[in-house]
Amino acid sequence: MTILDGKKISNDIKDEIALDVQRMKERGERVPHLAAILVGDDGASLTYVGSKVRACERVGFESTLVKLPDTTTEEELLQKIKELNESEHIDGFIVQLPLPKQINEEKVLNAVDPSKDVDGFHPENFGRMALEMESFIPATPFGILQLLERHQVETKGKHTVVIGRSHIVGRPMSILMSQKGKAGNSTVTLTHSHTKDLSEFTKKADIIIVALGVPEFLTEDMVKEGVVIIDVGISRVPDETKPRGYAIKGDVHFDRVSKKASYITPVPGGVGPMTIAMLLKNTLIARERQLK
Ligand code: GUN
Repeated sequence: MTILDGKKISNDIKDEIALDVQRMKERGERVPHLAAILVGDDGASLTYVGSKVRACERVGFESTLVKLPDTTTEEELLQKIKELNESEHIDGFIVQLPLPKQINEEKVLNAVDPSKDVDGFHPENFGRMALEMESFIPATPFGILQLLERHQVETKGKHTVVIGRSHIVGRPMSILMSQKGKAGNSTVTLTHSHTKDLSEFTKKADIIIVALGVPEFLTEDMVKEGVVIIDVGISRVPDETKPRGYAIKGDVHFDRVSKKASYITPVPGGVGPMTIAMLLKNTLIARERQLK
């Protein structure tokens, strides 16, 4: 069993990006600049955005955090997005999700200039991705492809089962795994809450990608020997023995499933760190496209 080490690979990718930034500086070019908009003060979102800003510092990017109150109106947020779209200093930006309920998420994501949409959530980028055209690939799916590619996990001709059809992970992942090219050429089954006899699919899968948000959902009786497991889940589960009062759990029962797996991502330290590294990569790509 091999651990798909997201911590190590994300560090390798950040080192590569830092080197590119160094070269940009040597050529006298402006370094990439990522901005993040955070509306409200949701604990998990604050943690994620904080990690994204720290990651920018680590690779030599400039970063801007735009913090707006919980009471922000849709118009105010759209105005801020317009400013970032028009700013010559910002190469890419993200609007951290989820948004407060008075704001329509679809309207907001549609307002981001596709050339600055480093999350890859704009319909133009999603459509271009699905058509194998130049686009921004959403950071988590992009990170999963990199984990598979850099560990040289064979995907060609394999049966991949994706659990969960979210717009951010499950749906794009199902498209990408079936595409031509590296970490693709797989036969994909996309399963979700209405799938009957899920185990009948997972037991036949060579690769399982779980993005459900249900702690320890996937157990050893649901998988075959030698399966490749990608666990996208990250849930806080109350645990008094931990200093913070909670433990972080993935969607996979790691101790039990890892005994049968050929490759598996740990939680934490698997997919999570890859997401941030690929957001940086997309920002670097945005900068480079502007220089062209
Ligand atoms: N909320 C959970 N995941 C993400 C992500 O990848 N990007 C943004 N903007 N918000 C999120």
